[in-house]
Formats: sequence, C-alpha cells, structure tokens
Amino acid sequence: MPPTHYLDNRIYTDPEVFALERERIFARCWKFVCHESEIGNRGDYRTATLAGVPLIVLRDAEGTVRAYYNICPHRGAALLRESAGSIANDRIQCFYHLWSFDTAGRCVNIPEAGAYEAVGLDRDRVGLRPVRVELFCGMVFVCLGNDAPPLLEALGPAADDMRGPLGARPLKVFHYHRAEIKANWKLFVETNTEGYHELLHVFNRRTGVGRAEYRKRRWETHAGGHNTFHQAIIGYDRHELEGREEATFPGMVPNGHIVVDLFPDAMFNVRATVGRIDSLTPMAPGLTLLECRGIGLADDTDEERAMRVRHHNQVWGPSGQNLPEDIWAVETQWRNMESGALAYSIVAREEDRAAMDDAPVRNFYAEWRRKTGRASHDIGLDASAVQAAE
Ligand code: FES
Ligand SMILES: [Fe+2]
Repeated sequence: MPPTHYLDNRIYTDPEVFALERERIFARCWKFVCHESEIGNRGDYRTATLAGVPLIVLRDAEGTVRAYYNICPHRGAALLRESAGSIANDRIQCFYHLWSFDTAGRCVNIPEAGAYEAVGLDRDRVGLRPVRVELFCGMVFVCLGNDAPPLLEALGPAADDMRGPLGARPLKVFHYHRAEIKANWKLFVETNTEGYHELLHVFNRRTGVGRAEYRKRRWETHAGGHNTFHQAIIGYDRHELEGREEATFPGMVPNGHIVVDLFPDAMFNVRATVGRIDSLTPMAPGLTLLECRGIGLADDTDEERAMRVRHHNQVWGPSGQNLPEDIWAVETQWRNMESGALAYSIVAREEDRAAMDDAPVRNFYAEWRRKTGRASHDIGLDASAVQAAE
C-alpha cells in the first residue's frame, strides 16, 4: 500500500507531534474564530485560543473588527476572562493593576503612573499586541504568523465554493454550543472529510447513502489541504423534515447539501435550510474543544428563524441525529489509539473522488506533511519519505 494511504496512529497520540502541529500549523495558519454577527455591536468581543495563545476578537468603537493577544502588556494577566461579552465605554480594564486600554488597543490609563516617570515608560508603547484578522463571507479569521499569505490567497478555490451558500446574503449565527471531546483534533476533522463514515449515521443512511444520486456526488481536493464535498440532493423529505423548499439557503438547490473543509480545522456544512460551522481548538493530544455554530440569514423573520433552529437541532444540535454519533465514534477511536494496540489506520479508498473516496483525507494529510515536515505513515521519518508516492 502506498505510504499516502495509511496513517501512523502516533500522529494522534504523540506529544511531540502535538507540539509540532502547534508550532508549524496553528501558529502559522489562518484560523476561523467566529462569525461577525456574533460581534455585531461596537464593543462586542469573543475570546479564543490559537496555538496556546489567548486572543480577543472584538468590534472596536469605529465598527472595525480587530484582534489582540488577550494578555495584559503590564505583567501578563488575562484581560477578558469570559468567552464572549461586550466592552462598556470603550475600555478594557485589566483586573490585576487596573491598566486600561481602548478597543483600538491603546493604553489609555495607568494608575499611579508617576512612579514610571523616572524611567520614562512611554504609554504609547504598551498597547495591546495586535493580531492579523481578516473577514470572508462574514467569517472572522485570525493568524499569528507574518509569513502566511492574505486570507483569500490561503483559501484559494475553496473560497469560491463558500461564496455560493455563504456569501450571497448576510448571515446570522443563531446557535452556539461547545464540547470538550476526549479525542485528537484530527479525528474530528476526519468525520467531516470522509463520506465513508456516513454509514455510521442512521439519518445519513436514510437520506443520502442509500440513494442513487448520492453515488454521483464528488469531492474536490484543493491546494492547501482544503476540500469541498460538492452539492448533492439529499432526501430530507424522507425524514419528515418540513419547509425545505421555500426556505432554501441562497446559492443552494432545494434539499441540497454542501461541505467545505478548510485546513486545518474549520468545517462549513450547508444543508437545505441551515448552515453549521464546526471549529476546533486542540488542548492536548487527547482533548479538543469543539465549537458548533448554527447559521441562518440575518433578515430571517421570527418564523423562518424558528424553522431553521428546528431543522438545525433535529440533525446537528447537541442532541441531534448526527453530531453526537460523530463524537461517540472519535472518542472510541482515541481510547483505542491511546492504548497503542492499533499501529496504523487505513485511508486507502479510491473511487475517483466519489462520495466515499478517502482522497480528501489524503489531501488533508498531504498538507499536514508539508507543514509538519513529518511522514504521516511513520512519524519517525521525514515527509520527503512520502514524496515519491504523491
Ligand atoms: S497585569 Fe494587567 S495591570 Fe498589571
Ligand atoms: Fe458524521
């Protein structure tokens, strides 16, 4: 079997690999943080962690979305300690010694500042440390590295696939939940990157896998490790889900479903009437923060919103018929991989990019190898060991 078609399971469990991913992937890539509707008003913020670095994403007093380290420049205390909220009066005040900053990142007050005069501490030089931030389709991305290309360049053709369903009209996040999953982050990515596992879900078996149309569905693998599962008609009507046609998402056909997976960890699903965004924060080799958002249109009526919420929750909510099964699957994988009892995983399906082809998983790992420099079939080897097979 070619080395691209199986995985050394230590890529999930090895602490050195985890550290390498933090340094070479998460510290250098664009990372989805939230949708702009979640920070719709001036002063609204969310906090996040990227490559271990705590961050703030906020809308400043002028309405511009900005990002900073969530670290006080004085002595390193956390500035904002909630996962989301709103900053009053354009002031972020550190709780430790009460230094204050405005939402443009300037240090605007230092208590008892006279004691710094002798050493000439310059207030203009102790502002918040900014982080690169860019928006696409209202999705807010941040990047810690200076070498990454601009966001659109990094997304490449995957951006075109997002524009149809997500860029036509303003969106609004109506659902948010988070879960700490006892599994490696890549195992969850793979649930959105391979169609083969749809066999797990009774819902997907009834609405998708068993239908002739499903077999015509194609994956497209993009440079940069991104993947698109092109739109297909799914039999949602078989599942007694109502109101599909009239509330179809713009850019979608009735009962359509599309998936765009952005390397490393952002997964966009649009299914007929609702959207879902999953994103991940790796916390340890076997611990991952999963954040799930449900999206509708910004100008939905109350009735339309209620319908989208219902459709979302039936399948994708924390008690829906799909998502909990994925978590269940990856947590069993993690336990078994951690035991060391299974050395390799097989990602060898070849079906001309059809729905159950493993090509998108292999595309993810091609980028993973480029970024980490390690071979995915044997972490003791350099990535060049795989190049001949690519
Ligand atoms: S650490 Fe923030 S004011 Fe001192
Ligand atoms: Fe799944």
